[in-house]
Amino acid sequence: MKDGQKTLYSAVQPTNNLTIGNYIGAIKNWVNLQNDYNCYFAIANMHAITVRQNPAELRNKTLSLLALYIACGVNPEKCVLYLQSHVPQHAELSWVLNTFTYVGEMERMTQYKDKCARNADNINMGLMDYPVLMAADILLYQSDVVPVGLDQRQHLEITRDIANRFNNIYSPTFTVPEGLYMKVGAKINDLLYPDKKMSKSAENPNGSVFMSDDRDTVIRKFKRAVTDSGSEIIYDPVNKPGVSNLLSVYSVFTGKTVEQAQSEFAGKGYGDFKTAVGEAVADKLAPLQAEQAKLLADKDYLNKVLVSGAERASKTALRTLNKVYKKIGFYQI
Ligand code: TYM
Repeated sequence: MKDGQKTLYSAVQPTNNLTIGNYIGAIKNWVNLQNDYNCYFAIANMHAITVRQNPAELRNKTLSLLALYIACGVNPEKCVLYLQSHVPQHAELSWVLNTFTYVGEMERMTQYKDKCARNADNINMGLMDYPVLMAADILLYQSDVVPVGLDQRQHLEITRDIANRFNNIYSPTFTVPEGLYMKVGAKINDLLYPDKKMSKSAENPNGSVFMSDDRDTVIRKFKRAVTDSGSEIIYDPVNKPGVSNLLSVYSVFTGKTVEQAQSEFAGKGYGDFKTAVGEAVADKLAPLQAEQAKLLADKDYLNKVLVSGAERASKTALRTLNKVYKKIGFYQI
């Protein structure tokens, strides 16, 4: 841990296949941020079970996500990488924070409403309580900054509300975190429905590019991407959501600015443009996938990372939880 640096927290759920939206909106940025912050990056398996999971698959996806974090450049020597369920303080703080959160607030959460619509046969309490557990994740580590995609903004806001509420009732206890949203890529959209977020659980998998997709699949999906009327390749999210989305993806995957990308494709057709985006993504994914596979073959190493991560995370988490228990009047021995 680096003294004097701010604390940064983020997490991804080990569910379904990760999309390039998750990579662009979250993991890729972590790699750049890890040198400037004390970072905690979790695998949010407790959030994952709010939707029914196959146990064997959940176990596999947990290691697979850890391997992906590391393959993408998240360095376990620099950051605390851990599995949420390995640190029991998340569930404990979550219970306390439940008593500072109103049912009406949770019922208004957009993601909750969406998930209810999609999982009508399993609207469980966990689904509703999801943002409180997320608040517990963030507040346990006294996080200053939380880099996430725009879809998590409402959850960040409620985390801030809960922290402020607790601090006002007792005395300053939690750092009130700020969300960090990237200028380009905070919301990558579906390739077939460019007005909708690219999602791990989209009904049509052709609209989402998965981190595990092979080269041909990636290129095919981009070739079929929905573009807009007209023929100009310009960044205009309101009138040209499809093209703008592809420009964002291209920019992130090539390291070029959106303006540079626009000039590169000036006068070219949609066909060439879509092929170029597909190739840029496929070129980047192949080495990540190879590294992930290599890491997955070394389970001992991955387990060591998790053990060390849980130890380091627990230390901070316990400190915050004790503070909270003291403030609310839990008798301590
Ligand atoms: P999850 O697993 O749904 O998504 C992980 C991260 O990916 C971002 N993201 C996107 N960014 C840009 N474009 C997209 N299409 C896109 N889709 C997803 C998400 O915003 C997120 O940053 N609740 C969280 C996990 C979590 C968490 C936390 C995050 C649990 N505890 C504490 C931050 C802090 C989630 O479901 O992410």
